Amino acid sequence: REIHYFSEVDSTNNAAKKLAAGGCPEGTIVVAEAQNTGRGRLSRGWFSPYGKGIWLSVVFRPPFSPMDAAKCTLMAAVAVNRAVNAVAGAGCGIKWPNDILCNGRKVVGILTEMSAEMDAINYIVIGMGINVNIDPHEFPGEIAATATSLAAVAGCQIPRLKLFTEILAELESAYNTVKNFGFAPVLAEWKNQSITLGQQVDVHGIDRSFTGLATDIDDDGALLVTTASGVARVLAGDVSIRP
Ligand code: BTN
Repeated sequence: REIHYFSEVDSTNNAAKKLAAGGCPEGTIVVAEAQNTGRGRLSRGWFSPYGKGIWLSVVFRPPFSPMDAAKCTLMAAVAVNRAVNAVAGAGCGIKWPNDILCNGRKVVGILTEMSAEMDAINYIVIGMGINVNIDPHEFPGEIAATATSLAAVAGCQIPRLKLFTEILAELESAYNTVKNFGFAPVLAEWKNQSITLGQQVDVHGIDRSFTGLATDIDDDGALLVTTASGVARVLAGDVSIRP
């Protein structure tokens, strides 16, 4: 398979999207030691210091409808969570839709970007940022209160190459499961690994904000939140777990 390794790049997602638009094969990987404009969800940045994390993007060309893109992100969250728990023994869980948290702090973020025409996916780039060996003191102001690293949680340095290999193996295995059996097994595993379900959450959507009890995710991967006025289906936005 194609692996594109950069010492420094603007964003591995940008590089992967260019390769995908140029026709690269499915499974093409972009990985960098550092990103100078790493990107997060909701137009945020992503802190990506040299040699301290895994800044990784993978090109998929799934034979699914564009409607299934959100579930591909949940699939990636399940795969990465398996890998970080296996390698770092960190006791991490998934916060809807696709953050991985340890002790209430974020160690992994996932950014999915898609190009689709009509009802077919051209490509999906799934970008994963794993805070591996970052000293917590290094996190810049705005994320210092909410982020941590696997090394900080485990109390020792984590071998990046081993984790990288494990992530790719788990992604491949989860993707094969989805292709062979559909999303149901992956969604079931997502629910088992979830730290959101059963919790009171604050939802900040594009056009509404509310509080309720996160009870389930549905077959589309939407979060179901029970409020005084009924059950809300949340497909996008920010969800924070109430302390
Ligand atoms: C988030 O939680 O907001 C998503 C963060 C995604 C970060 C990764 S790092 C590799 C890839 N390249 C990027 O520019 N972003 C993703």
